[in-house]
Amino acid sequence: MKRLIYIISSATVLIACESRTYEEISDKTPIVELITYNKDVKPIIEANCIMCHSPGGAASFQPWTSYNQVKNNIDKIIDRVSRPVGDPQKMPQGGSLSPSQITIITKWKADGLNEN
Ligand code: HEC
Repeated sequence: MKRLIYIISSATVLIACESRTYEEISDKTPIVELITYNKDVKPIIEANCIMCHSPGGAASFQPWTSYNQVKNNIDKIIDRVSRPVGDPQKMPQGGSLSPSQITIITKWKADGLNEN
């Protein structure tokens, strides 16, 4: 019984330490504000996707030129940008977004897909 109490209290100490570390990390995480389409997501799409995903591009069948087009396909987009480098379906085709750009897109969904 004593041994069990000892294990539980050490686990509590461990968890307490870990959550302090987490707070320290999240203090330094730059992405804390609400992500919106116009402020955060649109510039990423314009710089990395619309050269193909717009009329006349290699993927003109699926344009990413409006808020609704991107919002309505967010699950497909998150799936494609999150794939490992080398996966033929990874987007942008032939490259990759940076980890923080991928975080911005996934956080946009978590934040509620706001336009502004
Ligand atoms: C070099 C051209 C090119 C770029 C840049 C590019 N794509 Fe694509 N994308 C394609 C092509 C071609 C397809 C169709 C083939 C396929 O499904 O892989 C496609 C397909 C997709 C699909 C599947 C669409 C569907 O309806 O099935 C998604 C989602 C997608 N791209 C997202 C993106 C995103 C997000 C970006 C930017 C981060 C991006 N793509 C950048 C060429 C590109």
